[in-house]
Amino acid sequence: MSDDSESAFPAATIEALLAPAVGRLAPNTSLSPLPYDLNAGVPDRATLPAAGLLAAMQRALDADAAGALTYGGQQGYEPLRAWIAARESQEGGLDVTSAQVTLTSGSAHGIDNIAATFVGEGDIVVVGAPTYPGAIRTFRARGATIIESPQDDDGLIPSALARVLDTRRMTGQQAKLLYIQPNYDNPSGATLPVERREAIVALCRQHGVLIVEDDAYTGIDLDGPPPPSMFAIAGGRGVMRVGTFSKTVATGLRVAWITSQPEIVQKLVFMRFDNGASPLLHRMVLEYLRSGEYEPHVEGLRDLYRERRDASADALREFCEPYVTFKTPRGGFFHWLKLRPGLDARTVQAAAAEQGVAVTPGTGYFATPDSAELNGADRIRLVFSALPPEELREAISRFGRALEQVASSTR
Ligand SMILES: Cc1ncc(COP(=O)(O)O)c(C=O)c1O
Repeated sequence: MSDDSESAFPAATIEALLAPAVGRLAPNTSLSPLPYDLNAGVPDRATLPAAGLLAAMQRALDADAAGALTYGGQQGYEPLRAWIAARESQEGGLDVTSAQVTLTSGSAHGIDNIAATFVGEGDIVVVGAPTYPGAIRTFRARGATIIESPQDDDGLIPSALARVLDTRRMTGQQAKLLYIQPNYDNPSGATLPVERREAIVALCRQHGVLIVEDDAYTGIDLDGPPPPSMFAIAGGRGVMRVGTFSKTVATGLRVAWITSQPEIVQKLVFMRFDNGASPLLHRMVLEYLRSGEYEPHVEGLRDLYRERRDASADALREFCEPYVTFKTPRGGFFHWLKLRPGLDARTVQAAAAEQGVAVTPGTGYFATPDSAELNGADRIRLVFSALPPEELREAISRFGRALEQVASSTR
């Protein structure tokens, strides 16, 4: 090796070689070192079904080791796609086939597969304000211009979306995609009522906009099943429904799917250059789903998260009520708190950190956090999924102290 090998390729050189998109993106979020983490939207660790998955892996390898351990194709293991299609048919009242399902490495990859297939430099993608930052990053990385459409407590507002889409049409640059989470939105927790789903499907059809229906939290239904999916309402046309086993089984699996009409699925598969997701994991997951353990497991998760949602909502009312208001979510992992006027989310986050509690300021969930309106400076996202009720209560009482402190210093 030559003497100068340690000084070769310094950071500045690497910086100069980066793709332009890298400079446009916000950093990824990470786990907090603080004692009470109400920031990371992660499932409860104790419920991860390790024994069930190990047994399922054993059965998968015993049944077909060669199939499990060699390339499985870009669309993924057909019997798992058939299982997903059957469930989709049953829930949505449509006749969905395995050809309409493609398996991805997590729904995050599913969104990227969609972006790779439909988004070019300057193309318009409409998202809710607020929305999932991972989606903003993914679309931006592919060159999208993100346009926001406001949400209220019930999710995306159809009349506001109509204005956004009309404006795009008038400027001659129509939107291509609408990214939406109709169930248990991250971060707002909102569940879109059926009339809004219908109105949004109709609007998007009228404007030729494809809907990306991100269903990451579907299954974590804490007050009964949600309304029909946008995919079902649209009769399976013009919607890409992205689902995942991350929240109902394990985030570490990286097994997820997109359901859509066959022409779209074929294009999504065409734009895959990763030799497909893991055939071993697809077989393991299917064995687990068929074992009879999956349904009771998800039922158990619902009970666990319901208890945490209710305990955290009670604690918020007890310790934080004068400073925050919120609507209790019907599912998912999050409370989306509205701060009393005069309280700033970043100041509250810093005060909470001093109390040992990590929370997320609302500003991270907006595509244009610097705008005068719709910037999330009056919001905090608080995760209730990861801690048991006693710890949640302690964390929220500390959070209440932080709010009190900020309120008294801004009086
Ligand atoms: C709204 C939303 N979509 C997608 C994802 C990605 O999930 P995964 O890639 O694990 O399926 C997340 C993860 O937290 C999420 O909150």
